[in-house]
Amino acid sequence: MSSYERVTAHVDDPEALREEGRRKMDWALQHMPICRSLREEFAAEKPFEGETIGMAMHVEAKTAILVETLALGGAEVAVTGCNPLSTHDDVSVALDAVDNVTSYAVRGVDDDGYYAAIESVIDHEPTITVDDGADMVFRIHQEHPELIDSIVGGAEETTTGVHRLRAMDDDGELKYPMFAVNDTPMKRLFDNVHGTGESALSAIAMTTNLSWAGKTVVVAGYGYCGKGVASKAAGQDANVVVCEVEPRKALEAHMEGYDVLPMAEAAEEGDVFITTTGNKDVITREHFEAMQDGVLLANAGHFDVEINLDDLDDLAVDRYEARDGVESFEMADGRRLNVLAEGRLVNLAAPVGLGHPVEVMDQSFGIQAVCVRELVENGDAYDAGVHEVPDELDKEVAEVKLAAEDVEFDSLSDEQREYMDSWQHGT
Ligand code: NAI
Repeated sequence: MSSYERVTAHVDDPEALREEGRRKMDWALQHMPICRSLREEFAAEKPFEGETIGMAMHVEAKTAILVETLALGGAEVAVTGCNPLSTHDDVSVALDAVDNVTSYAVRGVDDDGYYAAIESVIDHEPTITVDDGADMVFRIHQEHPELIDSIVGGAEETTTGVHRLRAMDDDGELKYPMFAVNDTPMKRLFDNVHGTGESALSAIAMTTNLSWAGKTVVVAGYGYCGKGVASKAAGQDANVVVCEVEPRKALEAHMEGYDVLPMAEAAEEGDVFITTTGNKDVITREHFEAMQDGVLLANAGHFDVEINLDDLDDLAVDRYEARDGVESFEMADGRRLNVLAEGRLVNLAAPVGLGHPVEVMDQSFGIQAVCVRELVENGDAYDAGVHEVPDELDKEVAEVKLAAEDVEFDSLSDEQREYMDSWQHGT
């Protein structure tokens, strides 16, 4: 059953829901010059004719534009969510109404519903997969290995998904080529840094209606996402404390002016905790025991395992919804520790979560789209395993964006190129 049938069974006016989703998509499209340019190319050339693309991504307006862009290129596309709380039902319904697209994403499904929707996508027998977190790739390898021979390849959006795929590749278990979209400069330097920084902070502020100024914000992980969260929080006049396990990252945070502390100490000082590690058990029982009354706990990493909610539940004498998207866990001594969006990635899973700004996702999805085109055109050139996105594809997307922004830039002269390529020149 597609999302249209499932969602609209519970609403009075399904057509109004579809129209609202379509309006959100149209707004996003206005601000996605890269996808607009690729849509024109794909609509004219139909590069994906005959392909079936299976996708598991956050189903909201920007992703919907990527899905529609691939469908306009001639593909049949089946899509579902990659997180039970990040789907926008109106967008999912609007997407389901697009020609050649079936959406199975519904917000708030339980684990069974989540995996059933992934199965529904796999039933379409995809020839290309596009993932955010690699759940679709795993499911195909574990449950449907018979499909692997007919899969040309896939593309993975996020850090955690790429980590999982590399681990699979190292074990010789990844059986088709996957592009590490996350690792390109056009994705990681903008989406992870600015996108996560801006959208995590705005989702927390809107969910709680609280200010950043003067707060102590503890950022766990100083990778791409953590760096963005730390700099945007400092820009809102918060005091930022960074927790890291990697010595060079800890040093980088220190040299960039942040306090660096072990979580055991930061736990006593923080007003707001934001995890961005891609790891598990970053905030656990001993930290909860040391925290002040009223702290906010939010996660911006891919999975909901960074804040150990089982530990928190064990310590709590009561838990209740304090606001939409905020659950208070009350301790025996009366302290209240407030978890946002069930510890799932806050910028997408909070009730007000809209995900990254549109312009940022235009870049990330531009890379996704050219990777799918590359797989269709040159898939045979890639063996099973994780592949870097070819640099010229990344540059192509950057050039489209610069042209759309009316930004002109320099190019190397022949003499400069020769100089840069030679080792004989010196003093
Ligand atoms: P990254 O690998 O650049 O950074 C992660 C950092 O966390 C590393 O520096 C690592 O040393 C540190 N770390 C690991 N375990 C730790 C621990 N126990 N305590 C403190 N620090 C620890 O990864 P990136 O790109 O920053 O992504 C982080 C997570 O965010 C991933 O799960 C990724 O999938 C997710 N992500 C979320 C987005 C969102 O929209 N919320 C967008 C992009 C990525």
